[in-house]
Amino acid sequence: MVYTNPDVINAPLIQFRNKRPKLAKKTKILIIGGVSASVAIITIVVLCVVLTGNSSDPYIHFKFTESFDQIPNPERGWHMHQDSLDFADGSLNWLLTTWRDSYTVNYVPKNTNLKVFGTVLFVKVNLKNSKALANIPSAKLTEIRQAFTNVRNNNLKVIFRPAYDYDGVSKPEPAQISTVLTHLADLAPVINDNKDVILGVQFGLIGPWGEMHSSIYNGKNGQITYENAVKQIGDKYLQLLDPEIKIMVRKPSDIGLILGKDSYTDISTRIGLYNDALYTNADDYGTLDPYNKTNTTIQNYIQQTTKYSISVGETFSFQSTDTDIKGNYSTFNNVVKEAGIQHITSQNLWGFTEDFNGPANGDDSYFRWSDTSFKKFTNMMGYRWVLLNLSYQNAKGHFEGHFSLKNVGLAAIVHKRPVNLVIMSGNIVQKTAINTDPSSWYSTEEYKILFDVTTKQELIGQKCDIYLEFPDKDAALALKPLYSVRLANSDVTWDDATGLNKIISDLVMQ
Ligand SMILES: *[C@@H]1O[C@H](CO)[C@@H](O)[C@H](O)[C@H]1NC(C)=O
Ligand SMILES: *[C@@H]1O[C@H](CO)[C@@H](O)[C@H](O)[C@H]1NC(C)=O
Ligand SMILES: *[C@@H]1O[C@H](CO)[C@@H](O)[C@H](O)[C@H]1NC(C)=O
Ligand SMILES: *[C@@H]1O[C@H](CO)[C@@H](O)[C@H](O)[C@H]1NC(C)=O
Repeated sequence: MVYTNPDVINAPLIQFRNKRPKLAKKTKILIIGGVSASVAIITIVVLCVVLTGNSSDPYIHFKFTESFDQIPNPERGWHMHQDSLDFADGSLNWLLTTWRDSYTVNYVPKNTNLKVFGTVLFVKVNLKNSKALANIPSAKLTEIRQAFTNVRNNNLKVIFRPAYDYDGVSKPEPAQISTVLTHLADLAPVINDNKDVILGVQFGLIGPWGEMHSSIYNGKNGQITYENAVKQIGDKYLQLLDPEIKIMVRKPSDIGLILGKDSYTDISTRIGLYNDALYTNADDYGTLDPYNKTNTTIQNYIQQTTKYSISVGETFSFQSTDTDIKGNYSTFNNVVKEAGIQHITSQNLWGFTEDFNGPANGDDSYFRWSDTSFKKFTNMMGYRWVLLNLSYQNAKGHFEGHFSLKNVGLAAIVHKRPVNLVIMSGNIVQKTAINTDPSSWYSTEEYKILFDVTTKQELIGQKCDIYLEFPDKDAALALKPLYSVRLANSDVTWDDATGLNKIISDLVMQ
């Protein structure tokens, strides 16, 4: 099911070595005192400590190998967008059940059978029929709750967007913004009750497809301005939604409107971006209007604010008939560069594949990407954690040391989650929380993380396996292993049934 990617950017071509604990072979510790490298590690450590005391390195060191397999980790990667009704009534059960491990992309020309392992679905909530009503009917709210339930049952997460139009009709909103605010208040409890499976909520509500343009709130014919509408709805979002829920807006300048600050000054960790015209042209089809990508103020702002919040989007360059758009901005290198600046966590597969009725003219850049490029980009979105090395001491009832890891993805993970060190022998399990926050493991950075476990008495003298666990922060989802994060290492053993990453086998705890 998994594929191997032979030439991913910066791939350190470390040779695969034997299984742990023999992996420690190459480390300095084995050279001390001229002891043969073939002698068992544990013996050497004991000898070193005993014979040379403080002058020797008491730690055992392991190095790990990066994997280039596609990993269906939570809260990242490709998404597909569909209507909440279809998620609720069973029409999309085929997608819910294939998306995580067997969805096949059929229209990348070089290989018609690429698998995509997605963990995010985009739920569109169409409020067209509520436009003339004071409140959203309870049947509609029930439908949305059911959509969330079905997504949760399939171990997936949601990007959520409410809008008054999904057909491309201009000015679709209710004439009075007070109606929008009431509708948002109707939605808020449904959203908050499902925050465990929400990757982020897109502002929506304004304009066709909720894309925050072509709005009735345009300052004309007695209407309030766009800026006023964004401020009022934005304030309502911040007030009504649980503070842990991330909100996204279309334009970088919208963040300033909500914060009530000059645009492009304040970074918000809570308000991120959804760019619906990624890599399209100089100003991403109006997303950066009135500026473009040559403006370093805008570039720097986007780069900073998306580092700490959330950034997702979609592309549609092949659909455009503008000759200056088609192709030029969707070369692989350009996409990687721009996705890096924008810290893209999740992107619509629509625009890359058959899912939008095939390419308009058959010559879109994405369709000229090689399979290798497509796979590379698939792995890059969001976070991707590679364990680099581990050093530990196992003595006198303490298992103590540190590990280093690198986030080789385009972004940090959006939400905080626990990091646990798990020591296990049969039914005896000791789980210790490590004091670190993965949402601050930023793209391309390396981190050294310390641990110090007082080993449980029952485990001393027992042969144990040692694991790292990154479960969801929600207590109920933490019990569902497919919501845990898998490390991108070929020599770390992952188990779908437990959500544990095994880093050491058969260590007798001292
Ligand atoms: C980008 O904006 C600058 C400054 O407004 C302008 O001179 C330039 O022509 C624009 N470039 C593109 C490609 O639109
Ligand atoms: C770049 O964007 C900033 C917005 O902060 C604007 O003030 C400035 O005039 C822009 N520069 C150019 C060359 O358009
Ligand atoms: C794309 O970029 C090239 C080089 O910058 C330019 O010559 C060309 O006119 C642009 N437009 C298209 C449609 O290729
Ligand atoms: C572990 O990896 C980090 C980051 O690459 C590096 O700084 C450190 O020296 C490595 N430690 C060992 C023992 O190899």
